Amino acid sequence: RSAMAEERALAMVTCTAPVNIAVIKYWGKRDNDLILPINSSLSVTLHQDQLKTTTTAAASRDFAEDRLWLNGEEADVGHPRVQACLREVRRLARKRRGGSTEDASPLSLSYKIHVATENNFPTAAGLASSAAGYACLVSALARLYGVEGELSEVARRGSGSACRSMLGGFVQWQRGERPDGRDSFAQQVAPETHWPELRVLVLVVSSEKKQVGSTAGMQTSVDTSPLLKHRAEAVVPERMALMARHIRERDFEGFGTLTMQDSNQFHATCLDTFPPIFYLNDLSRHIIALAHRFNAHHGCTKVAYTFDAGPNAVIFTLADTVAEFVEVVRRSFPPATNGDQFVRGLPAGSASLPEELLAAVVTEPVPGAIRYILHTKPGPGPQLVDDPSQHLLGAEGLPRRCA
Ligand code: DP6
Repeated sequence: RSAMAEERALAMVTCTAPVNIAVIKYWGKRDNDLILPINSSLSVTLHQDQLKTTTTAAASRDFAEDRLWLNGEEADVGHPRVQACLREVRRLARKRRGGSTEDASPLSLSYKIHVATENNFPTAAGLASSAAGYACLVSALARLYGVEGELSEVARRGSGSACRSMLGGFVQWQRGERPDGRDSFAQQVAPETHWPELRVLVLVVSSEKKQVGSTAGMQTSVDTSPLLKHRAEAVVPERMALMARHIRERDFEGFGTLTMQDSNQFHATCLDTFPPIFYLNDLSRHIIALAHRFNAHHGCTKVAYTFDAGPNAVIFTLADTVAEFVEVVRRSFPPATNGDQFVRGLPAGSASLPEELLAAVVTEPVPGAIRYILHTKPGPGPQLVDDPSQHLLGAEGLPRRCA
């Protein structure tokens, strides 16, 4: 055994991972432990310049126990989903090492690990995403142990939607058929460069009530909703093919229409759940009506909304429509304070609205209902952070800054 092959005392890796927004929704599992879905889904990976999770993973022979910090506060490392990800990455590492003896710097798989993770967006904004979190955890652990290749299957064990955050651009998660889940992973439909004009506006709402979580909500839906069963069996397979085609052809009319229809059907399955689950509220319905009036005024689909298991709205549009639609939102939901900070992220430009558009689209303004708009676009998958000054853990393996 050469000196190079000596086990390292401390190893540290930092990665970032993106949030994704589904345009064909995942809702319902056929296997709760392996996190296997009842239907395939398709999403757009958002750019990490605006929304990202950063995770540092370290392993050392000096660590007494596994530890985890979320946004500076210690969290439960024993969480079954965190443990599943850790176990799977280590299993892949063991498999890889079994195959070759040329690993220059094997990191002992028995060392305890420290993990710190942070979001570059306020958790209070209701954007906190388990998808970015688990994608980032798996990316960092994989790098730490020198594991490469198919990792979306591992991220899936953290959170179903996390498997789609392992790739950039437009991503599908095939439900798969096998009981062991080996064919249930994410695949890129098109890279983030494929549709340069596509833009995303996250409308961050002001009041945030505690929602029914996705995991519990979808379980009740699987148990009680006949509409969800019909959706999974008869609706989603066709929509997956159609959505992939709209994306390949950069057909915004088709993409936007189907995005809205699929969001609406997901929320219909929530209403069909017994007892029913309500993620859409009066403000969501106000935004939905606004988008339809805007599109009707233009005579085509210029903006498309989608809502997940929370109150924020996500709007897809094209670059040439951003300034006008942002102004429509500003007029419809006049910001209470910080008017200058109303649009964050990418610059939105400014537009003055024609009188006919104002009259037709901006009805009954609701002051202060939307806190701010985050302007972003499709982006790449998880990234390795090379700069060691960016590590969230210091040389002792403890968080550098606290919440
Ligand atoms: C409405 O991935 O959060 O956002 O697999 O139980 O962790 P678990 O659920 P999660 O569900 C996401 C549901 C959704 C739709 C979607 O992202 O496809």
